[in-house]
Amino acid sequence: MLDKVGVLLALAFVASAEDLSSISEIIDQAVFVSPSSFAVLGPNATFRTNAFNTSTFFNPTSTSPPFFQIFDPAFLSILGPNASVHEVSRNDTFAFAHEAPVYNPATDEIFFCSNGGGTLGLSDIDHNNVVNKISLKEVEKALAENNGNGSVVHVPYTTLDLPDSLQMTNGGTGPYNSSLIFTTQGRGSLPPSLVLVNPAEPYNATVLLDNFFGRQFNSLNDVKVHPTSGKLYFTDVRYGWLNPNTFRGEPLLPSHVYMLDPETRAVRVVADGFDKPNGIAFSPDGKTAYITDTGALGAQFGNNQTEPA
Ligand SMILES: *[C@@H]1O[C@H](CO)[C@@H](O)[C@H](O)[C@H]1NC(C)=O
Ligand SMILES: *[C@@H]1O[C@H](CO)[C@@H](O)[C@H](O)[C@H]1NC(C)=O
Ligand SMILES: *[C@@H]1O[C@H](CO)[C@@H](O)[C@H](O)[C@H]1NC(C)=O
Ligand SMILES: *[C@@H]1O[C@H](CO)[C@@H](O)[C@H](O)[C@H]1NC(C)=O
Ligand SMILES: *[C@@H]1O[C@H](CO)[C@@H](O)[C@H](O)[C@H]1NC(C)=O
Ligand SMILES: *[C@@H]1O[C@H](CO)[C@@H](O)[C@H](O)[C@H]1NC(C)=O
Ligand SMILES: *[C@@H]1O[C@H](CO)[C@@H](O)[C@H](O)[C@H]1NC(C)=O
Ligand SMILES: *[C@@H]1O[C@H](CO)[C@@H](O)[C@H](O)[C@H]1NC(C)=O
Repeated sequence: MLDKVGVLLALAFVASAEDLSSISEIIDQAVFVSPSSFAVLGPNATFRTNAFNTSTFFNPTSTSPPFFQIFDPAFLSILGPNASVHEVSRNDTFAFAHEAPVYNPATDEIFFCSNGGGTLGLSDIDHNNVVNKISLKEVEKALAENNGNGSVVHVPYTTLDLPDSLQMTNGGTGPYNSSLIFTTQGRGSLPPSLVLVNPAEPYNATVLLDNFFGRQFNSLNDVKVHPTSGKLYFTDVRYGWLNPNTFRGEPLLPSHVYMLDPETRAVRVVADGFDKPNGIAFSPDGKTAYITDTGALGAQFGNNQTEPA
């Protein structure tokens, strides 16, 4: 919902780092910011007062983005020795790459959802959002041809012709059984849902779940497959209603984290106590779930930095 422009960034990952001693020699676009370098800013410093102001993001080295800002060298083993970050596609008038994204190795494509509602989402209670895709082969070709021209290339994206069962898509994951999985937020009286989508034409879809014991969810946000059990964990939040282009009615359920057994289709609440549960991810062993709470982002009711963030 912070999108001012739609920009798609791609990260390249290569094997793991052997020598972590000199980060800038290993990765051109990485900057290590030692926590001790900003632990004491002093009485005359300009402290940040608004975490939502894009002019005052925390950037103690004043490095021009895009770059990897590294606070703990352990992050290097995730990045690998030759990571790079590039702007690869752009649209200044349409937030075309807001959420998901999902990489499909079979076609070497990345799928992502445009903003549902929002300032540049080009969608509202009367207009659905879209799912777009981009070819990584085209990105690699453009970057190779752009050698010496900086880190930015612009390749076109393709909008999928999806069935009407997908309304205001948001998060996604996969491939799962060779399909993509998207969470939809619903639109008006059309219910939020978990949907499998064929990543190839004709992009047919199968709805796995669209209610909690007969009640509609609020606006499903994100989903992951548990790495060992294969169960689907997903988050539900109030953003369809909070959105500046409100496209859902007032919430009728708490903002929970849920689990769906894809075989039996049994659904249950697995975590409560969140304000606005958003992204979800698992540790590789499946023993820890990480869930962001974007409580501070109040959309039409404004941001509040004393809420979770
Ligand atoms: C803060 O600024 C004041 C006024 O310019 C100055 O007297 C003082 O030494 C500065 N303090 C520090 C820690 O730099
Ligand atoms: C954002 O921060 C900049 C730099 O401090 C300031 O000029 C601007 O007024 C701030 N904008 C908002 C919306 O607070
Ligand atoms: C690192 O990336 C650069 C630029 O893409 C490439 O020329 C080089 O071969 C890569 N090195 C390794 C070790 O992959
Ligand atoms: C940006 O998106 C709008 C709306 O879909 C479209 O009309 C326009 O051609 C796009 N521009 C670029 C540069 O892709
Ligand atoms: C830089 O990009 C331009 C336009 O895409 C292209 O014509 C030119 O060959 C590129 N230069 C290099 C050094 O790759
Ligand atoms: C799409 O249709 C094919 C052919 O009927 C079917 O095998 C596949 O399961 C469908 N995929 C989804 C996600 O519905
Ligand atoms: C996933 O694939 C397995 C093996 O083909 C099948 O048993 C299962 O029903 C599929 N699950 C879903 C949710 O489609
Ligand atoms: C911000 O959130 C806190 C905690 O929920 C609440 O007490 C406060 O009234 C809120 N402030 C505004 C301006 O809404």
